[in-house]
Amino acid sequence: MESNIIRNITVFGPGMMGSGIAQVFAACPDLRVTIFIREKFEYDCMDKIAANLAVLTEKGIMTDGEVEGIFDRITLTEDLAEAVRDADFVIECIPEKMELKQDLFKSLEPLCRKDTIFATNTSVMSITEISEKCGDKARVVGTHFWNPPYLIPLVEVVKSGYTSDDVLEKTMELLKKAGKHPIKVNKDVPGFVANRLQHALWREAISIVERGIADAATVDEAVKFSFGLRLPKLAPMENSDMVGTDLTLSIHSYILKHLENSTEPSPLLREKVEKGELGFKSGEGFQKWTAEEIKESNDSLREYLIKAIYNK
Ligand SMILES: NC(=O)c1ccc[n+]([C@@H]2O[C@H](COP(=O)([O-])OP(=O)(O)OC[C@H]3O[C@@H](n4cnc5c(N)ncnc54)[C@H](O)[C@@H]3O)[C@@H](O)[C@H]2O)c1
Repeated sequence: MESNIIRNITVFGPGMMGSGIAQVFAACPDLRVTIFIREKFEYDCMDKIAANLAVLTEKGIMTDGEVEGIFDRITLTEDLAEAVRDADFVIECIPEKMELKQDLFKSLEPLCRKDTIFATNTSVMSITEISEKCGDKARVVGTHFWNPPYLIPLVEVVKSGYTSDDVLEKTMELLKKAGKHPIKVNKDVPGFVANRLQHALWREAISIVERGIADAATVDEAVKFSFGLRLPKLAPMENSDMVGTDLTLSIHSYILKHLENSTEPSPLLREKVEKGELGFKSGEGFQKWTAEEIKESNDSLREYLIKAIYNK
């Protein structure tokens, strides 16, 4: 890695996440991105990137010249050795299967330089286990992007039981340079930080519906019209200090024993899945959804995110 600066990024698995992640790095004029193409259909990653960029140009967030620059900085190759020969940083976004990820990194080691960093975009799997087949496990780090990666700022940078501090710091620097908001996760635990928080809330939300306390739409209203509104400005730890740790203690002393603490998925959730009520995919989940409502939900989320992130 010339003078310790990361310049060349290689992306494996240019699907939903990989194509967006390639786009994020290529948007940085200092970086060059190589996408490894394993199957012919993966060439469509450029269409996915073009569609994302069209949203950004339409909103005036990016110019046509900037978009051209992004495409100029991306190279596609079907040659594995060529894909990683100059790589400073490899990121895999291949399917969520332990053996696939372990074997990919193992196969790359003899083809890469000794100081090439291996990052995995796993959603939930152990980074320590993913690095297990590597000769140099200290080079492996978790970089958990959120979907859509070209919009959501957070990337959880996860230290495995082996990741070196140098690899962790270089990864943090790279992500900042690419305009992301990386956070350090000091322990390799399932769900890292943000998904642990998110699913603690979902478990309680589903339980409230299951117990008949409120229906699904009402649960969402309770969030959207109260703490959900202020969350981007006031998140739990600051909020706890704001109201006082003493008040937080009093509330928790009373309420925690009443909250859902099951370590299994809810029976109601299982029942929905068994009945084929899969949500947007089938038109019914906890609520019924028409095709127009599904489109409206997806469109309004994208509009909201662009407004919140770019003020456009
Ligand atoms: N989808 C999300 O919201 C999300 C969010 C965060 C993290 N992730 C994680 O990112 C990774 C990719 O998820 P995705 O949703 O982009 O998947 P995807 O199915 O859209 O893309 C997977 C890519 O891997 C390629 N691929 C398939 N089999 C392969 C193999 N054997 N070897 C190499 N490449 C192979 C596919 O052709 C495709 O390009 C997973 O680990 C997933 O858990 C997903």
